[in-house]
Amino acid sequence: MKTIGSRRLQRMGSAIFAKIEQWKRTASAAGHTLIDLGIGSPDRAPSEKVMTALAEAVRKPHNYRYPTSNGTLALRQAICRWFAHKFGVALDAEREVLVLMGTQDGLAHLALALADEGDVALVPNPGYPIYQANLALAGVEAHLLALRAEQRYLPKFDDIPAEVAARARFLLLNYPGNPLAVQAPAELFAEALRFCEQYDLVFAHDYAYSEMTFGAVERFSALQVPGAKQRTIEFHSFSKSFNMAGCRIGFVAGNEQAIAALGKLKANIDYGVFLAVQEAGVIALEEDMQSDATVGALYEERSRRFVAALRSFGWQVPDSDATMFVWAPVPEGWTSREFARTLLLETGVVVTPGDAFGTLGEGFVRIALVQEWERLEQAAQRIKTFWEAQRHAIAGE
Ligand SMILES: Cc1ncc(COP(=O)(O)O)c(C=O)c1O
Repeated sequence: MKTIGSRRLQRMGSAIFAKIEQWKRTASAAGHTLIDLGIGSPDRAPSEKVMTALAEAVRKPHNYRYPTSNGTLALRQAICRWFAHKFGVALDAEREVLVLMGTQDGLAHLALALADEGDVALVPNPGYPIYQANLALAGVEAHLLALRAEQRYLPKFDDIPAEVAARARFLLLNYPGNPLAVQAPAELFAEALRFCEQYDLVFAHDYAYSEMTFGAVERFSALQVPGAKQRTIEFHSFSKSFNMAGCRIGFVAGNEQAIAALGKLKANIDYGVFLAVQEAGVIALEEDMQSDATVGALYEERSRRFVAALRSFGWQVPDSDATMFVWAPVPEGWTSREFARTLLLETGVVVTPGDAFGTLGEGFVRIALVQEWERLEQAAQRIKTFWEAQRHAIAGE
C-alpha cells in the first residue's frame, strides 16, 4: 500500500509540538493545573476601539463578499501612513504592500514565490520553525546561519561559502527574534543588504515583534537602510503588535518585484483577509499612531520581573531586548527536551524545548510570558521548587 501523505510533509517540521501536547495531557491527568508558557500567543485582547470597530464591521453585509487577496486599498494606505510615521519610510500602497493572513501566510509561501527546487535559502539556526518548513514545502535547500550567544546571536556572513551564496535566492532574518529575544544593531541590516547585493539575493526580514521592543532598545526596520527597497521585504504582524493573533492579519512591505511574486502566488491560493478584520486593522494602525505606547512596555515589565525571579534562586537567564520570550539555558546535565518534559510533568509549567527551533536551540528552553503577572509569579515559584529539588537530588548523589 502506498503511504498516505507526501514526502514533502515528512521533511517538514519537528514533532516536538505534538509531544508537548502529549506531556500536557499527562501532567493534567496527574492533577497539575497547567501554566502554559509554551506557545507565544498574546494573552491580552485588542483595544476597545479595535474590538468595537470589528463588532461594527461584522454587521455590514457587504463585508461578507470575497475580499481580494492583496488587501483593501484603505488598509494598504493605512499601512503606508503607519510605516512613514514609525520608520520614516515611504511606501507605495499599490505596489509595495501586500496584506497577509498573518505573517505566517507570507512566510509559509516565501520560498514557493521566490525560489525553485534545488535553489538555496539562508535561514537562521535557531529560528522560527516556518523558516525551514517553507523551504521543505518548496524543495528549496536550507543553508543554516549559526546564531550563537558569543556572537550576540548575529550571523557571520563571511562564514557562508561563496558557492552556496551563489546558489541562494534569499536571506531571511528575524530581529528582534523568536526564540532569540535579541535586537540586532542597525549595522547588521546594512551588512545583510550589502551581502544580498553581492550575491543578488532578496533580503526578507521578519519584523513580527516590531512593537514589542523594550524601552531603551533601538527600533529599526530593515527598510530604513538606504537603497533597501532594491531587494528587501519586511514582514509585520498585527498578532503581536495589536493583540490580534486570532484575526489572522499581517502584511509584507518593500521590494516591488518580491511583493508581486508573493502576491501572484497568493492570488492563486486564497481570497484574502475577512473585510471586517481589515477594517479593524485600519483602526488599530490609526490608534497606534496617536500614542507612543506599545505592547513592549507590558512585556518589558513582565520580563524584568520574571527574569529577576528566576535569577533569585540561581537560574542565570539573560535579559531580553524585546518580545514575549525568555531564552533560558538549561542546567548542566539536561537536554532541552528532558528539562522541558520533567518540568512540565512535575510542576505543570509548560515551556518549549529549544531544539524545536533548530539544532542550535539545544541546551535552551523558550519561556513565553503570555500570562498575567500573578500566574507568572506562580510559575516562577513552581520552577524554584523544582530547581531546588533537582539541586538537592544532585547533591545527595
Ligand atoms: C518570528 C515570528 N514570525 C511570524 C509569526 C507568525 O505570526 P502571525 O500571527 O502574524 O502569522 C510568529 C508567531 O509566533 C513569530 O514568532
